[in-house]
Amino acid sequence: MTDHVTIFDTTLRDGEQAPGASMTVDEKVRIARQLATLGVDVIEAGFPVSSPAQTDAVERIVAEVDGPVTCALARTIDADLEAAGEALDGGTDTRVHTFIATSDVHIKAKFDKLGDTMAEKQRAIIERAVEAIEHALTYTDNVEFSAEDAGRTDTGFLREIVQEAAKAGATTLNIPDTTGYCTPSEYTDLLTTVRDSLPEPEKITLSTHCHDDLGLATANTLAGVKAGARQVECTINGIGERAGNAALEEIAMALSVRDDDFKASTGINAKHLTRTSQMVSAASGFPVQPNKAIVGSNAFSHEAGIHQHGVLKERSTYEIMSAEDVGQDTEQIKLGRHSGRHGLFNRLEALGYDVPEDEQSEIYQRFLDLADRKKEIFDEDLENMMDEVRKDNLPSQSGDALPSAASGDEAVVAYKLEHLSVQIETDQDPQVTLRLRRLDSSIREEEATGDGPVEAVYRAIDHAVDQPHTLAEYSIRSISEGADAQGEVEVRIRYGENHFSGRARNTDVIRASAEAYVNALNHLAAAQADAESIEFVQNGIMNAYNGD
Ligand code: KIV
Ligand code: ZN
Repeated sequence: MTDHVTIFDTTLRDGEQAPGASMTVDEKVRIARQLATLGVDVIEAGFPVSSPAQTDAVERIVAEVDGPVTCALARTIDADLEAAGEALDGGTDTRVHTFIATSDVHIKAKFDKLGDTMAEKQRAIIERAVEAIEHALTYTDNVEFSAEDAGRTDTGFLREIVQEAAKAGATTLNIPDTTGYCTPSEYTDLLTTVRDSLPEPEKITLSTHCHDDLGLATANTLAGVKAGARQVECTINGIGERAGNAALEEIAMALSVRDDDFKASTGINAKHLTRTSQMVSAASGFPVQPNKAIVGSNAFSHEAGIHQHGVLKERSTYEIMSAEDVGQDTEQIKLGRHSGRHGLFNRLEALGYDVPEDEQSEIYQRFLDLADRKKEIFDEDLENMMDEVRKDNLPSQSGDALPSAASGDEAVVAYKLEHLSVQIETDQDPQVTLRLRRLDSSIREEEATGDGPVEAVYRAIDHAVDQPHTLAEYSIRSISEGADAQGEVEVRIRYGENHFSGRARNTDVIRASAEAYVNALNHLAAAQADAESIEFVQNGIMNAYNGD
């Protein structure tokens, strides 16, 4: 008999807290649909009080994504709990996740007003946790409580607060190693201690939430499962605050490949892991390293002759699972000029696009135009095409202003590249001319030169946007094969302490470079427009407590 382990995916909340990983609401909804297909049990969709965009994401995921429980995060503050409750309103399967810090170091830094002595503060923290759980229970009977920085919390206090949280009605108790400090044996002991302190442990789901600061997040999570945790909190590709969170794909495959050891299973359909990883990488702008376990492009490649020989003879010599198991080999369905509407819209649906009927003719026509230029159309080409459709459908030639940047959604497009021309002559610096439409509907035309064409393009864009920032990272890679291969450009820009990323693909790599840069600037503009969000991002989750 194997036990079920609940997969709690927090890619859209903790994952998105990774510097520069901000995703639009549309991207989040698409990822949430994919997570449902993947078979996760709970989706932590956002932290509604932190910004209107986060609220939108939770509301839309509750309304549009079937299957998993939708969860919203809240501190133990009434305003947070109300925001979470309202965002989840109308959903049939929802959870409120409330948390408060419990370690001495956090208590000293954050809770000046809660008492004079540590004991007084701890008493007040328990009271707040209990009140928050009772408040959350007015919205849903599915309430999770987290003792933030449990990994460094005094064990006696941790036992006390989880007992009170269970008594107040929380049915999931999460023990975060917020700073990625614990070792696997310590984490096992911690969970065992917590479990043993509960009067009715069978009524409670114990949960892990491990960060990867020492590269131990997956190991600690699995140690937690061994100690009886029956929920694991994790993110696709392990994205998240600082070094990230435990990676969902690693945990799911460890539990599956080594079920002889863990005797626990999940509802994950592993064949969707690679696709999900690619989607999250595209939306977050964080590439997946080739040697990343499970989903990296080299995870199933064998280079050394001796390995190749062994694998050809008997795969199990060097492989403990196969590329097919995790969807790495899935023969991509290639579309082409002879593909019909049915084939196209089926593929788009599988990629997470919900194309309304009245837009289908336009999109099919776009597809045919693309197929005229490119013999074989891959998923990446379709995603690129859909990005183009979205951008082109924004008002421009008519002179309308671009949609408000305050909506917190796809519509947040502060800048749109309308024209780009690059002249390259031997013995001369490249010369760029471009036209950019701005949110206030003004048009800027700029010219610039540079050492290379990309530098010239970026200089011209910088003049056109008047937005202070620095270029932190630029990378380019080929993502398909042949003479018509597409180049994918990733850009990260920095503004103050925050990073914003942009990505674009095109067979013309200069154009892809320009678009990736403009996308990153649009992410920055969206965060600026969303004043609460930028304040939240700037101050970080720690400072959000000050003045509580
Ligand atoms: O790392 C952490 O402690 C968190 C909590 C909000 C659960 O993300
Ligand atoms: Zn976390």
